Amino acid sequence: MNMHTADAVTAEESIAIQERQAAFDSKAATAVAMQDTLLTPRFYTTDFDELDAIDVSSVREDWDKLIAQMVSDPNKGHFKKNEDWDHVDWDGMDPTLRKEFIDFLISSCTAEFSGCVLYKEMKRRGSNKDITQLFQLMARDEARHAGFINDALREAGVAVNLGFLTQKKKYTYFRPKFIYYATYLSEKIGYARYITIFRHLEAHPEHRFHPIFKWFQEWCNDEFSHGEAFALLMKTDPKLTSGGNVWWIKFFLTAVYSTMHVRDHQRPAFHAALGVDTDWYGHEVFTKTSELSKQIFPITLDIEHPRWARGLKRLQAANADIAEAKERGGLSGWLGKTWGSARAAAAFVSLYTIPSVPNRVPESPRLEPAY
Ligand SMILES: [Fe+2]
Ligand SMILES: [Fe+2]
Repeated sequence: MNMHTADAVTAEESIAIQERQAAFDSKAATAVAMQDTLLTPRFYTTDFDELDAIDVSSVREDWDKLIAQMVSDPNKGHFKKNEDWDHVDWDGMDPTLRKEFIDFLISSCTAEFSGCVLYKEMKRRGSNKDITQLFQLMARDEARHAGFINDALREAGVAVNLGFLTQKKKYTYFRPKFIYYATYLSEKIGYARYITIFRHLEAHPEHRFHPIFKWFQEWCNDEFSHGEAFALLMKTDPKLTSGGNVWWIKFFLTAVYSTMHVRDHQRPAFHAALGVDTDWYGHEVFTKTSELSKQIFPITLDIEHPRWARGLKRLQAANADIAEAKERGGLSGWLGKTWGSARAAAAFVSLYTIPSVPNRVPESPRLEPAY
């Protein structure tokens, strides 16, 4: 059987295909994907019984529409190389760009697969038909996304061994409500990131240094739907988005945005090749994500506040110093790391304490991708 992950209709099928390719997967790339730091994509586990107990009848109409759209599977067969896939000159690529781009692909692949693993597990453990159906559909999409990135990596002679990751990577436990906030945001920010790059490259095709960006539009539409699903899940329980939980929402917004900022600034050559100013890009993505998140979150972050840009810069500088101190090692490295961590924490607190902007959440959260 010579099937491609793009045509797989379940996550299991997709993973089986990728396991057959695992013979070619490289140790170095898998080692990068195995890293668990504050900044690298993690694998999550949760209280699956609590998730399984969600009753979606209060959002039934919106729910059925969304599920029908996902069942119709508009992107089946899309995530594979075709005649639009131009030749990639990996050997001729500037070494710094090559390194950063591969790092970007590995990290994206790990993030996609992290979603797949979590969603697949929920589908496996659950008995609630609505919930298991949703999670099966989302796992299907994420497995295809991860498979496609791995296709791109394989051309560069590297690939992530996803079977190995599933078994060996550490799983972080998040209670369901944290999964909702974190996953909802990562889906929506994923949409905003992909569509911003896609639109930018539409206007400046000379910066499209790799064909995978041509696939970003359909890609981000998948992420958009996943985000919609989490918005509906949160809508079933008003407590999730009110009272003390608003502080958690603010925490996750701040953490997700600032992590993205620091991560992106670690890849200057990548953004230069795309012709994108990293600060502009971040601001653009935060603006879109905030606009979307008004569908369900009662607050947005004030990213126009003067302390916002300053705080991000401080956080980024502290992180750069931590990385340098780690390289240095020894006592001075340890001191540098400790001092850097204290500064990073202070910068995060400064960002977190910027007053947020209240927002009136609409009756029905449903949105369509419009950027
Ligand atoms: Fe995805
Ligand atoms: Fe997704």
